[in-house]
Amino acid sequence: MDEQKWAAEAAEKIRHKMHLVAERNRHKIPYTTQDGVFDDCSGDKICWWTNGFWGGMMWQLYHATKEEMYREIALENEEKLDANLMLAGGMDHDSGFRWLPTAVADYKVTGSKKAFNRGLLAANDMAGRFNPAGRFIRAWNDGGDGSKAGWAIIDCMMNLPLLYWAWEETNDPRYLQIATLHADTAMKYFIREDGSSNHIVAFDPATGEYVDTFGGQGYAQGSSWTRGQAWALYGFILSYLHTKKESYLNTAKRVANYFISNIPENGLIPVDFRQPADCTLEDSTASAIASCGLLEIAKALEQKGELGTTESRIYQNAAIKLLTALYEQRCNWDDNCDNLLEKCTAAFHDETHEFSIIYGDYYFIEAVWKLTGEELFLW
Ligand code: GLY
Repeated sequence: MDEQKWAAEAAEKIRHKMHLVAERNRHKIPYTTQDGVFDDCSGDKICWWTNGFWGGMMWQLYHATKEEMYREIALENEEKLDANLMLAGGMDHDSGFRWLPTAVADYKVTGSKKAFNRGLLAANDMAGRFNPAGRFIRAWNDGGDGSKAGWAIIDCMMNLPLLYWAWEETNDPRYLQIATLHADTAMKYFIREDGSSNHIVAFDPATGEYVDTFGGQGYAQGSSWTRGQAWALYGFILSYLHTKKESYLNTAKRVANYFISNIPENGLIPVDFRQPADCTLEDSTASAIASCGLLEIAKALEQKGELGTTESRIYQNAAIKLLTALYEQRCNWDDNCDNLLEKCTAAFHDETHEFSIIYGDYYFIEAVWKLTGEELFLW
């Protein structure tokens, strides 16, 4: 089927299903489903890192349909996150994931001053996690014992756009400096010669010296956790879009070329490209996130002119292969089931695998919207 026709068909199915899903879950902030019913991370789980994606989905749907219900749900999500913003121990490197798809999206659409305030507070908190000796943004918290004070993770590339946004809004270069210093460190210590990426890199937090790498949510040290590859792929092209630094575009392409060369025949993505050969575990989120990044690389190359245009088809085609595989084999189109994507995995060594995860649904919608031209650009 023609790619535009396919995207229009997928978008229509998303609009139909999500109207029903949003209506019956309007006061929740979902992470996953139990028997097809969304859970709720409002309340005591308000600091969970994925709590911006439901709001982001609502803003994408609002942008495409102008249905007021979506804006109201997104605003409720944004307001609930204030409890997180007021809890120092609940703040971490993932402020971009929580406040870009909620407060910053709101600010972009409505110009709300309250939303702007929330976005800037979140950006300031994230900037405060910068370690000047090692030139990285510190990842997780550790309860105050300092055991993770030197840890940085590849996922954080996706949070940098919160700092780019703060820089673009305030003209204060500190935000840009912190974001690019972190991206430069990630380029040097995370991305390997073959274009694959480490998940965790540990530095000495006092001197900034490199210490070690860890497998993190992937299979093992030196392996290739697919969602981490996807965060790197999308994260570097986003850094390029905000800064126009060619090294970020080249890094995004290197990671993308590695990712593309590892896509299995059936187009479905494993949890780790280097998991044992007899392991069939999948992660649909990696596929949806990588698709978004691939489409942005394709667009960036196309905008660079003639030479880029032929090259851009490689990235566009890879995204279509991933998205159609999800659409045909991993999307749940049952109106009575809350999630869209099946077979998402949080981490290789977790006890449970292959369930629904909210950001899988979010990035699948974002990718389809990129193809239909309905996207509200959030990053
Ligand atoms: N950023 C955490 C994850 O991708 O699971």
